Amino acid sequence: MARGPSCVDPLMPGCYIAIVSRLSRKAPDLHTLNLFLSEAQIQEGVERLAGQVQADYEGRPLLVVGVLRGAFVFMADLVRRLRLSLTVDFVRLASYGASTTSSGRVRLIHGVRSPLRGRAVLVVEDIVDTGLTTSFLLSYLQERGAASVRICALLDKPACRRVQVSLDYVGFTAPDRFLVGYGLDFDQRYRELPAVYALEDGS
Ligand code: IMP
Repeated sequence: MARGPSCVDPLMPGCYIAIVSRLSRKAPDLHTLNLFLSEAQIQEGVERLAGQVQADYEGRPLLVVGVLRGAFVFMADLVRRLRLSLTVDFVRLASYGASTTSSGRVRLIHGVRSPLRGRAVLVVEDIVDTGLTTSFLLSYLQERGAASVRICALLDKPACRRVQVSLDYVGFTAPDRFLVGYGLDFDQRYRELPAVYALEDGS
């Protein structure tokens, strides 16, 4: 059952962390990370999503498929709140590289190893942006015989959609900003941060 996302306040000014990063060997870049979701807000969101998933899949075996690498933290928190008969698997897809915009081309780097035919599948995504990854994944799982596929995304950036996708469980609606932390990266950095921040390029 589709459920509406919970809206959070827009970016909260005043919560800045200045981090000097070395994305290039030539010159250090300054990134300002502007807090978007605190740890407490994230955990409340995960709890709410887990409750919805639990209610919908009670008594049914479930295959939870995480989208690497960004969803690894969210998925770990989500599945630990579920009291269901579930198994987990992962896919790895790429569309960004060392950039803050999608290349528009989704590549499958690592597919699901579990049998899919006849299975109820819940895809766990960190963030849905253009929708290209979700759309690719839906076709991939359906073509391999999954009985049902639902999408659970921690974050949804609806302003950036290039293809229409239907999300079944959404934690938070996000503005058109590049977000990092809680598994989300910029060029493989910041995944370890426990909260979610908007990345601002400094000079
Ligand atoms: P989409 O295919 O454009 O919907 O993008 C999906 C993937 O792009 C996500 O699973 C993320 O890995 C990455 N992505 C999109 N937006 C962001 C962002 O704001 N921060 C970090 N990664 C992002």
